[in-house]
Amino acid sequence: MLTQEQIRDIRQQIDFEFKRKSPPEGFPKFPDLPAGRYNDEEFFELENKHYWSKVWMLAGTLDEIPEVGNYMLWDIARQPIVIVHGKDGVVRSFYNTCRHRGAPVVTEKYGTAEHGLVCGYHGWVYSHEGDLVGMRDKRDFVDFDMECRSLYPVKTEMFGKLIFVNFNEDAPSLRDYMGPIYDELQEFQFQNLRLVDHYVWDLHCNWKIAMEANMEVYHVKSIHPQTVDPSLDYRGNVNTLYPHGHSRMVAPNRVANRKSGYAQAGTDLREIETVGEIGRTCTQSYHIEPNWVSPLGPVLFPVLHFWPVNIRETKYEIRWFAADWGTGPVPEIFRKQIEYFNVVITEDTQFGDAIQKSVDSYAFKGVPLCYQEARIYHMHQNIDKVIGANIVPAHLRAEPVIGEEWIHPNDTSERLRQQEAMAAE
Ligand code: FES
Ligand SMILES: [Fe+2]
Repeated sequence: MLTQEQIRDIRQQIDFEFKRKSPPEGFPKFPDLPAGRYNDEEFFELENKHYWSKVWMLAGTLDEIPEVGNYMLWDIARQPIVIVHGKDGVVRSFYNTCRHRGAPVVTEKYGTAEHGLVCGYHGWVYSHEGDLVGMRDKRDFVDFDMECRSLYPVKTEMFGKLIFVNFNEDAPSLRDYMGPIYDELQEFQFQNLRLVDHYVWDLHCNWKIAMEANMEVYHVKSIHPQTVDPSLDYRGNVNTLYPHGHSRMVAPNRVANRKSGYAQAGTDLREIETVGEIGRTCTQSYHIEPNWVSPLGPVLFPVLHFWPVNIRETKYEIRWFAADWGTGPVPEIFRKQIEYFNVVITEDTQFGDAIQKSVDSYAFKGVPLCYQEARIYHMHQNIDKVIGANIVPAHLRAEPVIGEEWIHPNDTSERLRQQEAMAAE
């Protein structure tokens, strides 16, 4: 939930953004981001080894495995994982790698294993908890201890119905990782939302090039003149940078308090009632590292993910969530909204291939980012922090120029509050 104080702060910051003639005093100049961060194999390997192996990732939702015994294969993060809804209601994840000779324990994208997971190669059986509970011809294995041949677990936590995994056993809790965003997202009720749609597009560029199109609104006037620009006023956009590289943007709608398209259409769709004033009058969008972007709303909204396939190919995964619409198929107005959004994200992705070619060209050396694009720099800076600043070669580094003084809770709202206090004295 955004508190009343936060809402007041955001309103004040929007006002500041509209009026400012330059970035706030003292805001850092960003060094050019090295082009190699998008095409250098060495950097891509560093990301693989030291970044993706340590971050919390959205793997799916309980709607995909709603019943006890349901399982799903998840490999979009390039590790073979099986996620199981256990008898005790707990969702657990394991490497889908049999402890005998590595055959996959399950082979279908979705399935049900009432009495355990049975490897198709020699028939070893694993419980929903991942323990090896059955094997053929055990007499042929000398001194064999079944107890130490459980499936390798993957750290798993729920956020409402969302299933998050982390390949690092020692990772902080999801709550600590998400920080203030964990509380802010509560008003969207991820414990009650239904999965409306889920699809994946193939993009031909580095995953960060694809994702960065969704982390700033500087582009809105140029590439969304007919779609986003008429409704969103990018000049009032407020960026908030959080620890762990996460960030939020709040951009005011041009007509504040306008009724949603759903209400105008006269439908009686249920809204997510707890969504607050900002979520109803602005575009409130989050980036959660590594690859979550979600422009939220009170009726239907997408959660976007960008997964590297290799250094120049990306899977763009899109999930839609809404409050329960009751019985019956997905409402037609949702279908229309998704169709419309797909037009917008086609606009967003249109330059990906060409940008990748530019980055690969002899000419391209680096990227100068502006104040409005601060969320992108913040993300890069955090990637290097997670990898280990001194492991990243100097020519590939995003120098850490955004100091703690610009990261929540020390953001612009704090400065504005101080100014206000001084003016009142
Ligand atoms: S590889 Fe699974 S039982 Fe042999
Ligand atoms: Fe866009």
